[in-house]
Amino acid sequence: MPAVGIVIGNGNKEYPGNLTTYVTITCIVAAMGGLIFGYDIGISGGVTTMESFQKKFFPSVYEKQKNDHESSQYCRFDSVSLTLFTSSLYLAALCSCVVASYVTRKFGRKFSMLVGGVLFCAGALLNGFATAVWMLIVGRLLLGFGIGFTNQSVPLYLSEMAPYKYRGALNIGFQLSISIGILVANVLNFFFSKIRGGWGWRLSLGGAVVPALIITVGSLILPDTPNSMIERGQFEKAKTKLRKIRGVDNVDDEINDLIAASEASKLVEHPWRNLLQRKYRPHLTVAILIPSFQQLTGINVIMFYAPVLFQTIGFGSDAALMSAVVTGLVNVGATVVSIYGVDKWGRRFLFLEGGVQMLISQVAVAAAIGAKFGVDGNPGVLPKWYAIVVVLFICIYVAAFAWSWGPLGWLVPSEIFPLEIRSAAQSLTVSMNMIFTFLIAQVFLMMLCHMKFGLFIFFAFFVVVMSIFIYMFLPETRGVPIEEMNQVWRSHWYWSKFVDADPGHVEMGKIH
Ligand code: BGC
Repeated sequence: MPAVGIVIGNGNKEYPGNLTTYVTITCIVAAMGGLIFGYDIGISGGVTTMESFQKKFFPSVYEKQKNDHESSQYCRFDSVSLTLFTSSLYLAALCSCVVASYVTRKFGRKFSMLVGGVLFCAGALLNGFATAVWMLIVGRLLLGFGIGFTNQSVPLYLSEMAPYKYRGALNIGFQLSISIGILVANVLNFFFSKIRGGWGWRLSLGGAVVPALIITVGSLILPDTPNSMIERGQFEKAKTKLRKIRGVDNVDDEINDLIAASEASKLVEHPWRNLLQRKYRPHLTVAILIPSFQQLTGINVIMFYAPVLFQTIGFGSDAALMSAVVTGLVNVGATVVSIYGVDKWGRRFLFLEGGVQMLISQVAVAAAIGAKFGVDGNPGVLPKWYAIVVVLFICIYVAAFAWSWGPLGWLVPSEIFPLEIRSAAQSLTVSMNMIFTFLIAQVFLMMLCHMKFGLFIFFAFFVVVMSIFIYMFLPETRGVPIEEMNQVWRSHWYWSKFVDADPGHVEMGKIH
């Protein structure tokens, strides 16, 4: 049977619509889904450096740190259970995002957000009241299940709500709330670690209940997307809602395309198998490589373990947490830069500039740590200026990530998939991201112990590989309507072979 490609709409179209207050508020509330993801990323590193927390749950790490002045600094924190605490969440998220893709399709985006919020509340409470390691791990698993649901549904919700022209900026709004979540977590860790009696970690972990409640309540009051309504046959209701969202009366074009889109996706029985067709090779490649590369930048080494890392290079516990706050601030600020620049300078420019900047700073950090710590990991007394230089280069690195691979790692996949494979390809993107986040979280401390400062060279190597990939294989997608995206592949020096070579490609117009 020949493969049938379906092209919706008639190209070159711009739907009328404004950035209404209604849609802005709706999107801000929905983007809060990113907060819970960010809060988690930021909280675990700080908590694992709190002495009272270590003493209670990971006494061997605590003892090793306190008493062992002989062995290498690089290995001070190497503990499988400590890393499992951080990484278990991403394994759970990986499993649940596959389930969530069905729930989101069947019961709507709002429902998935609600499920995510409730699971997240449960996980946060279990963690806050934990008295044993298993409670910590089960709590993290629940948080992970929650994240799988929200990360699947929130970006979809945002894209469906956003007016066409502002989709890019609103998509990065999700990344912005991730980075705000990380920052808030870092700041809270800083203060909570000072609580006398050493129970501050309970507030840090339990505090996740706040963003969880925001998204839970948010999901109850948010309107359904018109797409979701159409999927359930509520055409008139969807039209009325779309008028309100866009702030204009004439939404016929868009509503027709939404109906067509919904019909078309119902025609596709096996979206996953579809993804394997030759003509989708560029999309499949991007869905796998972009999220994997995003993690292979090594960013989560900084996000999860900045305080641990800073302690390793000789900062006291307090200074280490403070430095994590500084990197968190840089992360938020640079994300704002990308919101401003992504539609002006283009994706490729940001990817490539970010790659070069990350490479330089990673090599500098490796050289600085290598020079002082050598391979045996015993630095002697470290001057203050030295630690400051290391933090400075880490900030330069974080800024580069935050305006390139951070937001674009989510944005680019979401804008290149044709409708008929969009949901499956998006699930694949989220899964790949979670797999690599898990792997890096799980093996980082072990890698630091064995590869020492060479660890930074390891990530620098991947930054070179991914930059070459972008240069050679990723076409510019700035200002290209999603329905026109096929053109971009057709005119690409390499991918055109795949897209054009499909003899069975049949274009269909609107479907009613
Ligand atoms: C990544 C996360 C990362 C965060 C940092 C996100 O785009 O997916 O893994 O921790 O950016 O801001």
